[in-house]
Amino acid sequence: MTAYDQHNRILRDLRISVTDRCNFRCRYCMPEEIFGKDYAFLPDEHMLSEQEIGRIAAIFVGMGTRKLRITGGEPLLRKDLVHIIRRLSALDIEDLSLTTNGSLLARKAAALREAGLHRITVSLDSLEDDLFLKMNGGRSRVQPVLNGIDAAAAAGLQVKVNMVVQKGFNEEAVVPMVDYFRERGHILRMVEYMDVGNTNGWNRQHVVSKQELLDKIGAHWPLEPIAPNYEGEVATRYRFVDGKGEVGFISSVTEAFCSTCTRARLSAEGKLYTCLFATKGHDLRALLRSGQSDEEVARAVSGIWSNRHDQYSVERGSNSAVHKQDGPRVEMSHIGG
Ligand code: GTP
Ligand code: 5AD
Ligand code: SF4
Ligand code: SF4
Repeated sequence: MTAYDQHNRILRDLRISVTDRCNFRCRYCMPEEIFGKDYAFLPDEHMLSEQEIGRIAAIFVGMGTRKLRITGGEPLLRKDLVHIIRRLSALDIEDLSLTTNGSLLARKAAALREAGLHRITVSLDSLEDDLFLKMNGGRSRVQPVLNGIDAAAAAGLQVKVNMVVQKGFNEEAVVPMVDYFRERGHILRMVEYMDVGNTNGWNRQHVVSKQELLDKIGAHWPLEPIAPNYEGEVATRYRFVDGKGEVGFISSVTEAFCSTCTRARLSAEGKLYTCLFATKGHDLRALLRSGQSDEEVARAVSGIWSNRHDQYSVERGSNSAVHKQDGPRVEMSHIGG
């Protein structure tokens, strides 16, 4: 049962958030003033269990999904993460990856690999402690994250690094980051700062465009474009002309990529979102817990996907400060990136 949405896009990727908690407080995602001591995170009984996550993923794979990504919050905070990965890696998929802030990775990388994880994406916005601490709410220095990256590579996981670039904040970190990860053979992707969620006070003036980044990096190391690894790849790829690897640009603000978006997102409490900027999710947990069969759940998912119109980044355009919405957007920490 292959489902096509209203723009003829198939359901090829599922991104599964396994917790809405995080041990960081990045300003662009979970600002401390809002995600403070009194913030109501999901209670355990509201979160999908390991078995429920496995069941939903199997249903999606049965419908044609080929890529799974585990996200959070911070997925390494979830105690049964290795069991979840073992379950997911047994499915008939092409790719199983995980997005993490890397702070707890050094201890866990080998077990994640052993459980069947294929690759890992670590978020890191600077190599300088002062700036990094400022960005993550004072929660971690840089070295634990670099140790996590080294441990992941040593365990045999392919590593990518995501860097969100914000004007006037960490632009100066771009060249040192490129230099560091180029030398180590890891792919660094620069992410344009997005207006995701409701709390980060996003402003178009704070976005550093893909073109600006290309110019900045290209001035140090000439670059040339290369073809995507697969149709609909989020990052556009460039190789260093000197042969030392590649970098990627994720330009959701200046060059929207909705036309090839095959991604669905599942929150830790089992809501299905058909766009990163969605205002409403569809409650799959209720279906599971009310005794529906796999076929019934698959039919419901197929119906949701067939009705999908989402193309938020295209509609927002690159210049409008705020796009009209029919309610508050889901937070990034709720559905991962
Ligand atoms: P690969 O599978 O390695 O190609 O990774 P990916 O391109 O799926 O990217 P990743 O999960 O590392 O996400 C990188 C950044 O892109 C994050 O900041 C995400 O929020 C953003 N991103 C990923 N998918 C989408 C999307 O569908 N829409 C938008 N607007 N941003 C996205
Ligand atoms: N804009 C762009 N990227 C973001 N991320 C979190 N919030 C934003 C935002 N507002 C990134 C994280 C991580 C990935 C999951 O999403 O840094 O790399
Ligand atoms: Fe930062 Fe990721 Fe945690 Fe959000 S989920 S606060 S981006 S580490
Ligand atoms: Fe997909 Fe929505 Fe991102 Fe567009 S804005 S690429 S539809 S998740």
